[in-house]
Amino acid sequence: MIKMPCVNKKIVGTTRMQWFVRACQAMGTGMMLSSWATSSIEEVAEAARTGLHWLQLYIYKDRDVTESLVRRAERAGYKGIFVTVDTPFLGRRVDDVRNKFQLPPHLRLKNFSSSDLAFSSGKDFGEDSGLAVYVAEAIDASINWEDIKWLRGLTSLPIVAKGILRADDAKEAVKIGLNGILVSNHGARQLDGVPATIDVLPEIVEAVEGKVEVFLDGGVRKGTDVLKALALGAKAVFIGRPLIWGLVYQGEEGAKEVLQMLKEEFRLAMALTGCRRVEEIGRTLIRRHQALFSKI
Ligand SMILES: Cc1cc2nc3c(=O)[nH]c(=O)nc-3n(C[C@H](O)[C@H](O)[C@H](O)COP(=O)(O)O)c2cc1C
Repeated sequence: MIKMPCVNKKIVGTTRMQWFVRACQAMGTGMMLSSWATSSIEEVAEAARTGLHWLQLYIYKDRDVTESLVRRAERAGYKGIFVTVDTPFLGRRVDDVRNKFQLPPHLRLKNFSSSDLAFSSGKDFGEDSGLAVYVAEAIDASINWEDIKWLRGLTSLPIVAKGILRADDAKEAVKIGLNGILVSNHGARQLDGVPATIDVLPEIVEAVEGKVEVFLDGGVRKGTDVLKALALGAKAVFIGRPLIWGLVYQGEEGAKEVLQMLKEEFRLAMALTGCRRVEEIGRTLIRRHQALFSKI
């Protein structure tokens, strides 16, 4: 499954986001669209009509804006909401601060009509990253479990908490009635020093006691990474940056090629570990060993 929120550029009537979603559809996998994508919820659904789409949701200070994203996802046939819970503020991305990051003039966050929420260029963000200012102004930094309950009551779509790294949070999400946990550290883009998702996966799987599905993202680069995550209890993994690299290399075909490589590597890893079916991938495949330097 693919998580792909990157900015995109219109090229002969097709946006990069549309290439992504078509590549995912062609390869039989789903795609999670960011609230902040530069293609809209509807454009992405339209570009791959038989594809499996989910919406990544940020909880805006303006709850009407938040609700309207959910309603649009419902209408466009999206199959679930991934609510990001690890971004009350944007992490300190020094390059973005140094470059005073903002979108180029031909791009905007297509899900929003007002220029402020669409993060259109031209605004003065001072000495900071424009995106960091955007988040501080628009996203609700005070959200707590009550707000997640509010979201739960809003829609019958499955809701997955994205950005969980602790067992107690995972348990709380289950208690509230969420349908899944995406173990994620936002691709390590939020806070330096957070654990690797693969390291916390087992304790999260244990905490939810099989009541909901657990997914993982972050650092999945090879089929063997997929195998390891599944062996440690993930139901599926999500992939971010490798798809961007494929797209930069060769558009829709490049994205497909990345997926094909991962699929082949995963198939081979299964065969070489003696697993005939995905259900046969289990914890016994994994051995942990101390890093060499810790013995010095
Ligand atoms: C360019 C870029 C933009 C991202 N935008 C979002 C976003 O809008 N919302 C979100 O929840 N996560 C976002 N993420 C984090 C990804 O959803 C995902 O957690 C991460 O990329 C997974 O790690 P990987 O890139 O190592 O596969 C973004 C990541 C990247 C690289």
